[in-house]
Amino acid sequence: MSDSSRFTITAALPYANGPIHIGHLAGVYIPADIFARYKRSIGADVLYVCGSDEHGVPITIKAKKNNITPKEVIDKYHKIIEKAFLNFGISFDVYDRTSNKLHHKIASDFFKKLYENGDFIEKISEEYYDKSENTFLADRYIKGTCPICGYENAYGDQCEKCGSSLTPSQLKNPASMLSGGALTKKKTKHWYLPLDKHESWLKNWISNLDKKEWKQNVLGQCQSWLSSGLQPRAVTRDLDWGVKIPIKEADGKVLYVWFDAPIGYISATQAWANKKGNKWEPYWCDENTKLIHFIGKDNIVFHCIIFPAMLKAHGDYILPYNVPANEFLNLEGKKISTSRNWAVWLHEYLIDFPDKQDVLRYVLCINAPENKDNDFTWSDFQARNNNELVAILGNFINRVFVLCHKYWGGCIPQKNTIEKIDLDLISELKSKPKEIGNLIENYKFRFALQGVMDLARLGNKYLADTEPWKLFKEDEGKNRTETILNISIQLITTLAIVSEPFIPFTSQKIKNMLNIHFNDWEYAGKADNLNPGHQIQKPSLLFSRIEDSEIANQINKLKKN
Ligand code: 2FM
Ligand code: ZN
Repeated sequence: MSDSSRFTITAALPYANGPIHIGHLAGVYIPADIFARYKRSIGADVLYVCGSDEHGVPITIKAKKNNITPKEVIDKYHKIIEKAFLNFGISFDVYDRTSNKLHHKIASDFFKKLYENGDFIEKISEEYYDKSENTFLADRYIKGTCPICGYENAYGDQCEKCGSSLTPSQLKNPASMLSGGALTKKKTKHWYLPLDKHESWLKNWISNLDKKEWKQNVLGQCQSWLSSGLQPRAVTRDLDWGVKIPIKEADGKVLYVWFDAPIGYISATQAWANKKGNKWEPYWCDENTKLIHFIGKDNIVFHCIIFPAMLKAHGDYILPYNVPANEFLNLEGKKISTSRNWAVWLHEYLIDFPDKQDVLRYVLCINAPENKDNDFTWSDFQARNNNELVAILGNFINRVFVLCHKYWGGCIPQKNTIEKIDLDLISELKSKPKEIGNLIENYKFRFALQGVMDLARLGNKYLADTEPWKLFKEDEGKNRTETILNISIQLITTLAIVSEPFIPFTSQKIKNMLNIHFNDWEYAGKADNLNPGHQIQKPSLLFSRIEDSEIANQINKLKKN
């Protein structure tokens, strides 16, 4: 089996204004990584693209707060984020940043092409202006009283107390967060993408998509946006941090961060191609390439409506093939919150659990917010580790390795007469990888991972039913033991391959123990990958128990926040 198709897989560019937490990993980067790793293992041409989103108002706010420059903010967090991804085995082909020169040029050229085509409309509007600071204010820089719940510190775009979306003009007593003073209004010109003009083809496109493939939550959001009627969207801002607008009359303005960020996927691809001496065009301009955007649900409108409208207006690019957005992950029953420090930060997790990257990958996948918001709890984390990874997967592999060494010095024994119980296991072994692969193809990563664990469960049951350690003591039993252990080792070989997308560090350890160097999905499910006589290593520890005290520590840490 080989898959000759090409996939451009993107994962939402994280804002470089803070480190990343388990919610990011569960919602976007782990699912995308599973998909990318699986596609590579079936021989597809995969480019997995990401990078830091380094523009936008939250970055300038953070800089002001800490009395440093926006550049210092992004340099700091870009490094932390990139390292966390690396540590968790997120297998990007490229991790770029939108502050790079090449990105500025590509985003600026993109705008220019649309501008010259007449794809924008220009509008003059009155916006809030802070006279003492001599600047227009982004919505986030304006504070006032929420018209809905009366909260006095609501932002110009959202009330964090009642969650309502707001516009600055809805706020009572709007004030500048920069100077604290009152605001005046001033005229300013901006460029708008007339989404209303794109509505009709977008509707057609979305309703003609293969509904079985797109997730219901994503289609639902798109349809609701489309049915309430699209409005022109400003794609420029009066700010000084961002991609400068390449036309004279837009001096002092930059691109709206949501205009430049998705173009970051294209510029990251070009940066990768330049570095490798490859072509970038096949990944963005070839109709046969499948462009898949992995995102969280708050990014749906940008990836399913606005970015496609930009791509269509530009004309050179393919449209997304699928946008498998996830819901949100909560933590111990509450919404993850950066400002309240209610989060599990990846760099902190690694200090407490330095060799347990795969445990977190496992728990975040088996409990991923695929179709509804889900909850991460430390007690579930402990139970999944102790009762599943240690007791099922680790235990099965360890038992087989120990027996192989005990009876045959780590040399794989031969298969003798095959009995019904062996045939039953071999038949499961054959069919499961296909099932797991299909589930991954359909973005059902939780079920797919359950399929991997089912294989390990079958292995344990096979050992429990056949009891090779008892048989070895009997004369004829020796032959049976050889067969049972041969088949068990073949099962472990398949486990090494099918677990790789989910828990790549463990998969590598198993492959090292087996002395094998292949990872192609086509070998999964075969009962004869390893020949009798093949030498395997002594077992090393794959998983270890997590004690109550370690969990209590984590809960205390959260409670302190
Ligand atoms: O929501 C976010 O975190 C954004 N930084 C995602 C950007 S995705 C893309 F378009 F770049
Ligand atoms: Zn409110």
